Amino acid sequence: MGNLVFEGCDTVELAKKYGTPLYVISEDYIVDRCREIREDFLDKYEKTMAVYASKAFLIKEMARIIKREGLGMDVVSGGELYTAIQVDFPMDKIVFHGNNKSLYEIEMAIKNDVGRIVVDNITELDLIERTASKYNKISSVLFRITPGVDAHTHKYIQTGQVDSKFGIPLNEDIINIAVKKAINLDHVKLLGFHFHIGSQLYENRGYILAIRKIAYLMKQLKEQLGFITKELNTGGGYGIQYSGDESRKPIKYFTDAIMSELENECKKSGFERPLVIIEPGRWIVGEAGITLYTIGSIKEIPGVRTYVGVDGGMPDNPRPSLYEAKYEGIIANKVGEKLINTVTIAGKCCESGDILIQDLKVPKIESGDVLAVFSTGAYNYSMASNYNRLPKPAVVMVSQGEYRLMVKRETYEDIMRNEL
Ligand code: LLP
Repeated sequence: MGNLVFEGCDTVELAKKYGTPLYVISEDYIVDRCREIREDFLDKYEKTMAVYASKAFLIKEMARIIKREGLGMDVVSGGELYTAIQVDFPMDKIVFHGNNKSLYEIEMAIKNDVGRIVVDNITELDLIERTASKYNKISSVLFRITPGVDAHTHKYIQTGQVDSKFGIPLNEDIINIAVKKAINLDHVKLLGFHFHIGSQLYENRGYILAIRKIAYLMKQLKEQLGFITKELNTGGGYGIQYSGDESRKPIKYFTDAIMSELENECKKSGFERPLVIIEPGRWIVGEAGITLYTIGSIKEIPGVRTYVGVDGGMPDNPRPSLYEAKYEGIIANKVGEKLINTVTIAGKCCESGDILIQDLKVPKIESGDVLAVFSTGAYNYSMASNYNRLPKPAVVMVSQGEYRLMVKRETYEDIMRNEL
């Protein structure tokens, strides 16, 4: 019986000190994942690169950790790029994505010499050429391809299917025209291709199928246009454990499959394997985070269910309402007590769908207890909103028994700061 301890820190103490809701992020977990990537992918295979998909969770401290651990970073907006610039992130290790980059963002990327821009559509290619020419630079680019692979995940986080807002469809005619155009531009250097088939995937099969398709494309382009693919970015999407799912697979389950398929395909076609990039986001940070809430109202509807209200909800974790995501939780001040009730954890928003966890087994609970929800490191803080004018929670980083406040809790004044 006691309090939940996370990386050597008492979570109930943290809740008391910083208030709730509170995001608690384990630096040790993130560092372990980065090391696994280095050992089992970067050091194992030549011509490889790993970039952290910063959309999963980005604050300056996260960018510093990723920089220190030697990974690159994928950004999808001027805001993410700005964060990287603020910590002197090596710009040659930045991959810049986005299906509708603004001229301002493209200028920002080119002026700052980002390593690669992933071109999502032909309109963007012209914009990059003009901007690079204006600044007298040569911009390295990859084409994002939608390989036509349906990943087995929620349809809102599938991205590789033909009908997608992202990327150029894997259609020979369309791609031939795009490649021909790119190789004739003076300020654009086409290095190769990118695909991202989806998120929260447990199987490597989708990656293998996508590689087969892209390898065929590479072969055609070499034969027809003499174009040699120097880089292939295989995206991210490796799944983690939330509730009732499989556990997170080791990185090599995905990367060994990707590498061996690509090596085989290249050998068959007689060309050199391109440099391979991976872009995990959630896999690095998802299980590193927990969120602490304080329990308030408890409402029992006899024979129906018991609603337990917490002081956060969809503004700090929109995933259950957006993707029907399932989470596990525990009463942090009653660890080890017998689980005798099943309750529904409700957020505090004016919205019936604001339910964080359906049917959580709990010990005898009372108002004031602290609930810890697991695996909230990815796409929680980064997707948080001020719905119902709830201030965004603070972020605390923990490591080996030490903790440090990285982001202060928002105040009501913060919420109104831009109002005139
Ligand atoms: N690379 C690209 C080009 C992506 O679009 C994404 C995710 C990633 C890498 C990283 O995916 P990850 O390894 O984190 O699965 N908000 C949703 C997830 C959206 C993912 C968008 N793109 C969620 O909460 O599940």
